[in-house]
Amino acid sequence: MARILVTGGTGYIGSHTVVELMQKGYDVVIVDNLSNSDQAVLDGIAAIVGTCPDFVQGDCCDTAAMDALFARYNDIVGVIHFAASKAVNESVEQPLKYYRNNLMSLITVLEQMKKHDVHNIVFSSSCTVYGQPSAEHLPVDETAPIQKALSPYGNTKQINENIIRDEAHADAQLRATILRYFNPIGAHPSAMIGELPNGVPQNLLPFVTQTAIGLRKELKVFGDDYNTPDGSCIRDYIYVVDLAKAHVKAVERMLANQAEEQVEVFNLGTGKGLSVLEILNTFMQVTGVNVPYQIVGRREGDIEQVWAKPDKANNVLGWKADTPIEDVLLSAWKWEQKIRK
Ligand code: UD1
Repeated sequence: MARILVTGGTGYIGSHTVVELMQKGYDVVIVDNLSNSDQAVLDGIAAIVGTCPDFVQGDCCDTAAMDALFARYNDIVGVIHFAASKAVNESVEQPLKYYRNNLMSLITVLEQMKKHDVHNIVFSSSCTVYGQPSAEHLPVDETAPIQKALSPYGNTKQINENIIRDEAHADAQLRATILRYFNPIGAHPSAMIGELPNGVPQNLLPFVTQTAIGLRKELKVFGDDYNTPDGSCIRDYIYVVDLAKAHVKAVERMLANQAEEQVEVFNLGTGKGLSVLEILNTFMQVTGVNVPYQIVGRREGDIEQVWAKPDKANNVLGWKADTPIEDVLLSAWKWEQKIRK
């Protein structure tokens, strides 16, 4: 069976994708520098799948290491490139770290793919490239305008998309799928893998689950005076396992030469927007656990409302995010309880 290189494969979305790939029979090799993940994630993957994926500890920016990896695994037919720094706040404080790491890793991966005759790449992008879409562009499809990035992190996603497009223009053999994720949440139903935030979580769901388990005193809801039905922000929360499955579809499509364009772009969301208060209330309802919270002022740089129009992914990739939000929230809670034992 074909081998897929998964960069950042011990990370949150990467590990769930490795599981889905292996369950479909793909051989996988992970490269990860473990800067924001733990090697124990490999045990979680093995517990689910029955075998451990091959793992190379290394940095995607390291040309010699990546060259050696591609030489050793000469059966790689495609790359899913997750490896990147992803903390928005940190990117504002340390922009050079973000530009170096996120741009150099992609450039190095593309260089080594070319050198070793590998021509298929799936790239992790984000709905952050759309900024706050105007009302006429909600829900957001792939043709919505890209807006000036709100952070260096967001800018690296935009620049990397352009790097891929320019390289595809120059190299007729290259095929790329750009996946723009909305808000990934939840954990594998087995609770063997899940999200492991570093320090105080910036994202909503890990903060909710950590408050529910007593690690945090209360959740701060950032703003209830937005122009939304209940005043809190709206996002498209997508189950990480559904999201992982989209990567397998994208790989299959490229390997079967079904892509209609050299670079294809898909929005990955559920198509449904949920507010912060809806997420919070549903979480409390399905778990039966009270989550103390307080409404505070808006968070700087927050987008009021964004959710996807996932029709292209539904129709072209043959993929749909359809796990009920109740199950997704329960999976996150099960995971939080497991890791605090
Ligand atoms: C954030 C990033 C985005 C990144 C995404 C990755 C910002 C401004 N944006 O998106 O670039 O791609 O994470 O998942 O950081 N909230 C609270 N209290 C909290 C935490 C969050 O009320 O303690 C609210 C936020 O105001 C927001 C919603 O929950 O309305 C979701 O927040 P978050 O999980 O941080 O995701 P995004 O802001 O959508």
